[in-house]
Amino acid sequence: MEDVGVIFGDVGLGHFQISLSHPIERGDYLTIEDESHGRVLCQLDDLHRTSDLNLERADEIGRGEISTPIHERLLGVATIIGFRDGQGIVKIPTIPFRPGAKVYRAEEPLIAEVLGLKHRGNTGAYVGLLRNHDLRIELDINQLVQRHVSVLAKTGGGKSYLLGVLIEELLRHKVTCVIIDPHGEYGSLRNPAEKNGASARFAVEAQGFAKQVQEFSPDVALNPSAKPLTFSLRHIDPRDLLVFMGLTNVKSYLAPLKEIVDAVAQTNADYGVKDLVRAAEHGEGAVAETLHERLEYLEQTKILGPKGTSLSELVVKGVATLINLRGVAPDVQELVVARIASNLFDNRKKDKIPPLFLVIEEAHNFAPQQGTATCSRILKNIASEGRKFGLGLCVVTQRAARIDKSVLSQCNTQLILQVTNPLDVRAIAQSIEGLTPGMTEMIQSLPVGVALVTGGGYHTPLFCEVRPRATRHGGESVRIVGN
Ligand SMILES: Nc1ncnc2c1ncn2[C@@H]1O[C@H](COP(=O)(O)OP(=O)(O)O)[C@@H](O)[C@H]1O
Ligand SMILES: [Mg+2]
Repeated sequence: MEDVGVIFGDVGLGHFQISLSHPIERGDYLTIEDESHGRVLCQLDDLHRTSDLNLERADEIGRGEISTPIHERLLGVATIIGFRDGQGIVKIPTIPFRPGAKVYRAEEPLIAEVLGLKHRGNTGAYVGLLRNHDLRIELDINQLVQRHVSVLAKTGGGKSYLLGVLIEELLRHKVTCVIIDPHGEYGSLRNPAEKNGASARFAVEAQGFAKQVQEFSPDVALNPSAKPLTFSLRHIDPRDLLVFMGLTNVKSYLAPLKEIVDAVAQTNADYGVKDLVRAAEHGEGAVAETLHERLEYLEQTKILGPKGTSLSELVVKGVATLINLRGVAPDVQELVVARIASNLFDNRKKDKIPPLFLVIEEAHNFAPQQGTATCSRILKNIASEGRKFGLGLCVVTQRAARIDKSVLSQCNTQLILQVTNPLDVRAIAQSIEGLTPGMTEMIQSLPVGVALVTGGGYHTPLFCEVRPRATRHGGESVRIVGN
């Protein structure tokens, strides 16, 4: 084993300091030969250099005057991860290591054993490799679905890419998914990725999932690859109807709209938006005219019909259903999410649909910490109770600070990419157990493609080099100028 330094100073049960003889990187795995427990796995959490160079001598060097040699040292702080006992349980020694003990670079078999990096067979979602190693990170799919997931990173941090990786794995294992896709990015899961130089190291083959992806949208004119998503008009109350019509002034419009709906419903139980338009045609005054005009608009959108899209169409075992909301007004998006999420939850409780994974992109808009969205309440319910009924929730957001904390704290698996906003960093540090101060700092400078993974069947947070996509990534940035 390659030795990298020696323990010095006060030694604690969780951390110790190392005088380093070799430069190593923050996050590297180390090991110590413990007298009673054998090799114990540790991780470098912080690094700094000390020197005897004081201000006066630094100034002398600055002026080009000859100075005495500088004595400098590289010091590190390591966190103890532990060892596996006879029963395979990870433990931490109860007696501190001895100062003077040698510290070695940990070898892969020890890292794999203590971290629990093993092939999970049918239950593993392969998301990438342990950073700087060739050890696969496979998240436990049962945990993902039963105990919820969050994907957190700043814009452009790689959330959608990583979520794509996760969905590919779920589809490979025939897990049913419903994905709320506000930007229409996930249709590319149908198509295999173009050749990628990194794929060999990660052992990923390009593969499309055309047979396991279906797409619905309220706006099929804008999203022609989707089937129409419609809701049954009879199940929409007039207040929600106003939202679908794009009218926010409830005070002026609710009562007259109610009148129209009641009058139509009395004569025709199977009424459609067309019937409402006809009934509104002859009204007089500005309010009546606006109602008529907005009902005509609503008729054109075709989002409300006599019969809504049935749940058996939306949820198909082993298939990912994309709810493409591109081009849909934000408050209508909220209503759509509220309706779909409640429907899924009710029917999951009755076991009428298979267990499934519900993904919410841009989740800070659908379950905000401040203010409310129409769908906040149902999403909070699913976060707190969904696991009992086999309804897993995955929230994806670039604003960890802006998403409802009760939702975020229910997520037992976190996939964190680079986050720089201090409020978001703080929200993450507060909602995740086992993050060391060093890891919290590292989150702020993660390169694209590296994620910090917590939970998912692992007992310690792991830095993961996300594997390349098997499918095409749909969220490419728009190029403003070419070269
Ligand atoms: N693991 C990765 N490997 C290679 N490229 C990546 C990876 N993750 C993200 N990217 C690239 O970074 C860009 C932003 O990623 P994206 O997932 O769309 O960000 P976000 O959804 O967080 O805004 C994309 O162009 C994507 O191709
Ligand atoms: Mg994205």
